Amino acid sequence: MAETVERTVPGKIILCGEHSVVYGRPAIAVPVSDLRARARIEPAALPGLRIVARDVQQTVSVHDAPPHNALAQAARLTLERLEAAAPSATLTVQSALPIAAGLGSGAAVTVAIARALSAFLGAELSADELSALTYEVEKIHHGTPSGIDNTVIAWEKPVYFVTDHPPETFAIGAAFDLLIANSGIASSTRAVVSDVRHRWLANPEFYDVLFDCVGAIARAARSAIEHGAIPALGTLLNENHELLARMGVSIPQLDHMVRAARQAGALGAKLTGSGQGGNVIALIEPEQQAAVAAALQAAGAVKVWHTRIGGTCD
Ligand code: PMV
Repeated sequence: MAETVERTVPGKIILCGEHSVVYGRPAIAVPVSDLRARARIEPAALPGLRIVARDVQQTVSVHDAPPHNALAQAARLTLERLEAAAPSATLTVQSALPIAAGLGSGAAVTVAIARALSAFLGAELSADELSALTYEVEKIHHGTPSGIDNTVIAWEKPVYFVTDHPPETFAIGAAFDLLIANSGIASSTRAVVSDVRHRWLANPEFYDVLFDCVGAIARAARSAIEHGAIPALGTLLNENHELLARMGVSIPQLDHMVRAARQAGALGAKLTGSGQGGNVIALIEPEQQAAVAAALQAAGAVKVWHTRIGGTCD
């Protein structure tokens, strides 16, 4: 009988280029190794594969669940790819990643299920296979996903992403520390993307210039990360935030958190993801963690996470 297997998978965060990526400019996303989804699979006496996800209060039988059930679909696509039958087993999923917060929780859970299930069956899927499979499942959550989440999370590497081009992973010259601060304000990616589209249609010349500037920032940020030029990366993040504000996707609460992080000594800070709520990221030196986290909380953050990109926090 197969042995119990556990696999963990990181979340992701967009470092720069959100929104302009929808208009063909590059974006950069990085894995968040300190916030992970976990899948554990163990043999069961009853026939069939059952998935238990307590975070979302779901228990599903892979055989019986409908096609739009993302948990079951992750397992089915894995079995299809391996040309294997469902084992008699229980797969338990747990995630430290908040749901619908731009941290890639859906993609991380899918990759965790696929990796644990394939290992349980004595096989291993490549990062490319995991990414493709996860993209299919992401369509259940997002309709037309950009492909950023599945790529970063399956590869567990920074990704330079341009729509309709194969994503490029790249290396980190020096590890750097981020704080991720949740504003506690819910926002819908779909709605914010649609707002930007309306404004772009009303004023394409202005918005195309903003998108070009952000694209240049994403290219420069990639180079800064590859060369370990962390202070320069901070400046680029600050500039990206101002351009996102000009696009109309920031709100006073996010601007306030960004300013507070900078005043407390962060090398750079910006909103991340779709905006109008959600999260702010602050690039910090490790010794600034407490001061910047306190400033973010005082400015309204309901939760602050610390993560090291290119390493893990101790
Ligand atoms: O917050 P997230 O991870 O859903 O990011 C949204 C990023 C956008 O550029 C605004 C939309 C997209 O599909 O790339």
